Amino acid sequence: MKAEILKVLKENKGYLSGQQLCESLGVSRTAVWKAMGQLKEEGYQIEAVRNRGYRLVETADVMTTAELRTMLCTKWMGAGLEYFDETDSTNIQARRLAENGAPHGTLVVADCQTAGKGRRGRSWVSPHGTGIWMSMVLRPAFSPAHASMLTLVAGMAVVKGIRMATGLEPMIKWPNDAVLRGRKICGILTEMSTEDDCIRYVVTGIGINVNTESFPPEIASTATSLKLEMGENVKRSPIIAAVAEAFEEYYEIFTKTCDMSGLKEEYDQVLANRDCQVCVLDPKGEYRGRALGIDSEGSLLVEREDGHIVSVISGEVSVRGIYGYV
Ligand code: BTN
Repeated sequence: MKAEILKVLKENKGYLSGQQLCESLGVSRTAVWKAMGQLKEEGYQIEAVRNRGYRLVETADVMTTAELRTMLCTKWMGAGLEYFDETDSTNIQARRLAENGAPHGTLVVADCQTAGKGRRGRSWVSPHGTGIWMSMVLRPAFSPAHASMLTLVAGMAVVKGIRMATGLEPMIKWPNDAVLRGRKICGILTEMSTEDDCIRYVVTGIGINVNTESFPPEIASTATSLKLEMGENVKRSPIIAAVAEAFEEYYEIFTKTCDMSGLKEEYDQVLANRDCQVCVLDPKGEYRGRALGIDSEGSLLVEREDGHIVSVISGEVSVRGIYGYV
């Protein structure tokens, strides 16, 4: 009921009388009044004016199942939607749900993570009200060897989603991060469960710094948030919906070939370190070169100083800028 009332309020910019709401939804006045109370508690500003009715004042950064539902314009991504005010980690939750049979496209979102996970065993600080912490359950039919490229697909979705929802123009720092003006705005963590060389499920988790105002000293010089870049509070639900929509679109292109051939050109256009000098931190020995773009397997092509072109495989090495993080 709450979700339906919210949808009707959003579709109507003016006032809607209690009578109109009751008639269009086929419910009692008491039911409408109760749902209005619940929506107000969730943070929506609803004006109620005698003889005119109700009007939604769109200001707050509300993140609830109902809000996300009204925003999502997808076919399968988010058809199963699990929202938590607080959870340990959306990746852990998504894995639990997947183990219990959650279908492909299940989307898990939380306002706060108490045990957010970063890459390489690091933690990911995820307080209330500051960021987007979301994970997607995927059940692809391809072999495990292709799964790491889903991180690249997710990176493209983040960049497009943020651009569509805010107008900002983030770029990708190959392979896992999205950056704005050379600082990290998003990290992606893909985890997989396999059996007999088949994928049981993949969980791709995305963390975006949205309204973060300050960062711990160890990342203060390399991280930023949408709020710090825009100078104002940013609503999270429209970004989640835009990222989910873009992911669905890119995933469908990816699964046609099970590689990056259909996405490579667009990926290279948003690659932050394209044509830049990079340092490849290979455990067998560091080297420098110029980043050219990705190949169809999602590896980064780097032209070494001797003109030799090497393909750098994600997961084995990391890549840094010569003068900074990107
Ligand atoms: C990185 O180290 O850059 C990857 C960070 C990934 C963080 C996201 S937040 C949502 C999802 N849940 C987690 O516990 N981690 C990922």
